[in-house]
Amino acid sequence: MCGIFAYLNYLIPKKREEILELLVNGLKRLEYRGYDSAGVAVDSAASKDISIIKKTGKVALLEEEIKSRSNELDVSGTVETHCGIAHTRWATHGIPNEVNSHPQRSDPRNGFVVVHNGIITNYKAVQTFLEKKGHVFESETDTEIIAKLIYHFHEQHPNYSFRELVENVVQQLEGAFALCFKSKYFPGECVATRRGSPLLVGIKTATRLATDHIPILYGKEADSNPEHRPHGRGEFPTLPRTGSTSEFEPLEDKQVEYFFASDASAVIEHTNRVIYFEDDDVAAVKNGSLSIHRVRRGGDDPHKREITTLKMELQQIMKGNYDFFMQKEIFEQPESVINTMRGRMNFENGTVTLGGIKEYIPEIKRCRRLMLIGCGTSYHSAVATRQLLEELTELPVMVELASDFLDRTTPVFRDDVCFFISQSGETADTLMALRYCKLRGALIIGITNTVGSSICRESHCGVHINAGPEIGVASTKAYTSQFISLVMFALVMSEDRLSLRQRRQEIITGLKNLQHQIGEVLKLDNKVKLLAEDLYKKKSLLIMGRGFNFATCLEGALKVKELTYMHSEGIMAGELKHGPLALVDETMPVLMIVMRDPVYNKCMNALQQVTARSGKPILICEEGDQETMSYCQKSLEVPKTVDCLQGILTVIPMQLLSFHIAVLKGCNVDCPRNLAKSVTVE
Ligand code: F6R
Repeated sequence: MCGIFAYLNYLIPKKREEILELLVNGLKRLEYRGYDSAGVAVDSAASKDISIIKKTGKVALLEEEIKSRSNELDVSGTVETHCGIAHTRWATHGIPNEVNSHPQRSDPRNGFVVVHNGIITNYKAVQTFLEKKGHVFESETDTEIIAKLIYHFHEQHPNYSFRELVENVVQQLEGAFALCFKSKYFPGECVATRRGSPLLVGIKTATRLATDHIPILYGKEADSNPEHRPHGRGEFPTLPRTGSTSEFEPLEDKQVEYFFASDASAVIEHTNRVIYFEDDDVAAVKNGSLSIHRVRRGGDDPHKREITTLKMELQQIMKGNYDFFMQKEIFEQPESVINTMRGRMNFENGTVTLGGIKEYIPEIKRCRRLMLIGCGTSYHSAVATRQLLEELTELPVMVELASDFLDRTTPVFRDDVCFFISQSGETADTLMALRYCKLRGALIIGITNTVGSSICRESHCGVHINAGPEIGVASTKAYTSQFISLVMFALVMSEDRLSLRQRRQEIITGLKNLQHQIGEVLKLDNKVKLLAEDLYKKKSLLIMGRGFNFATCLEGALKVKELTYMHSEGIMAGELKHGPLALVDETMPVLMIVMRDPVYNKCMNALQQVTARSGKPILICEEGDQETMSYCQKSLEVPKTVDCLQGILTVIPMQLLSFHIAVLKGCNVDCPRNLAKSVTVE
């Protein structure tokens, strides 16, 4: 998904070279989000104009392009105050090429330039309006209308401030966006805003910040007469101008740096003091001061935005000793599961506390049903824990793919409790499902890995899974941590149930042993690599299982598909006879998960059905289970844990297998083709 990075230095002399390096590095930190082209805009060396440098493909190519133009860019020159904006684009409107890349510009003289994350749904109407006014469009993007619209307002209202122009622009936009603007008419200024796409600003001053919050300044709403939003007919209305402001003032000497970014990974190496913007905030930096404005909408509007101190460290987001982020994240799981349980599981007295939802537990216990909603891997964590939730809460539990849930306009009631599971906390479908349920009065619980994300902020309460930053596009450690978070919730819900005492205790003991057992599973790495060597040239892989391990089949198949581009299917073993068995012959690669749990006999039945059709399944089974292994030539043994946690141990060999196949096939492990880490469009 697109990434925004902007850097503004105020009264801090910097070489242009340093500024360009900083912008490119910011983009590198955002690479994991997925993109297909990149660009930057900086002040031009020779004149007051703006230079735009764009390149299709990787940020490294943009970096080379910048180097090749170092004379023209006067990289050794120094600027005291400067604003540069940068972007990685994931194509939505128009193919990935240089014209369509961002920054997009207002006119051939680059009066205004903008970077955009999201989609403008009414761009056609605005484009028609602007074309009638004589603007000539050069790209196929929805973003270009933003650059041209601000220019249009500037021509109409030459006295408006940069911030006022942006406020007027966003009044006309429909859809989702995060935007960062730069203009040759407002040198050294930057204006940023968001609606539906994440955006934050990092603030760096030489000394401690004088404040822990920034006041919000409210303007007046535009005339809401629909006739005034003609999109093609007549003029756009403009907002009444707002007066002077009290703003965030840096300390005495006023030297300050600002880092606008789509997420904290691009900012953390510079500063840990950040503000997460909310929808419709318009943040402007002028003369080194930051102000946040909103057009007034309701009575309970907030008065300030807090400056948050990030706890994340740079090394957390670096690869360490691993070749790939995904590999690092798989191997981090012994620690990440502990981090998920830290301060929540008390293994000594067998209690569980989820601080984020504690106050809501009585209300949750009174609910009519639980709904678990997510996409992709996050959805699979719901599938993995549904059975346990049903068992320990005795409530009906629905698991839903967010997109399908919305398509069906599923009935939701005030006494429903809806969980929204999302690593990024920004997935558009999940977020829209959240808003849909919130409107209907349900209690909203977020299960996310990203503090300050939209799902976090819009939930009534939640559980932070604390897995640490997940950079690889394919989700791994977030899955096991989501799984554990939902197990802990089931334990909390059943704490006063005497009849479940023994069951709860065995689960708590299982959780306690997980760290060590995951370590044991990771030792299978070499064996899994050998299996990958047998499989990487095959066209397909069927993964079968049932009960508590069915989610592993779905999640394993998703990992194989997305990382290796090989066809793979997770098959409910109970469904074999209803169709999938027809796929099985001596050539079809099959992997089966058969654990000594309540569905063992049924799984063995399926195994025999496969071997009877000359299938040669690879087995994932319990350590030392010679009897089951005697049916297969190849097997991976994982330690035994309590049935409902077994899926955590069986999914890890699948993560490793997809990883090794991807490496053998030369696929891009951390950034699979066509995919993005944070899917902020429907
Ligand atoms: C697969 C994967 C995706 C995500 C899905 C939801 O490896 O990562 O299927 O799980 O896009 O993303 P989040 O969890 O951020 O809502």
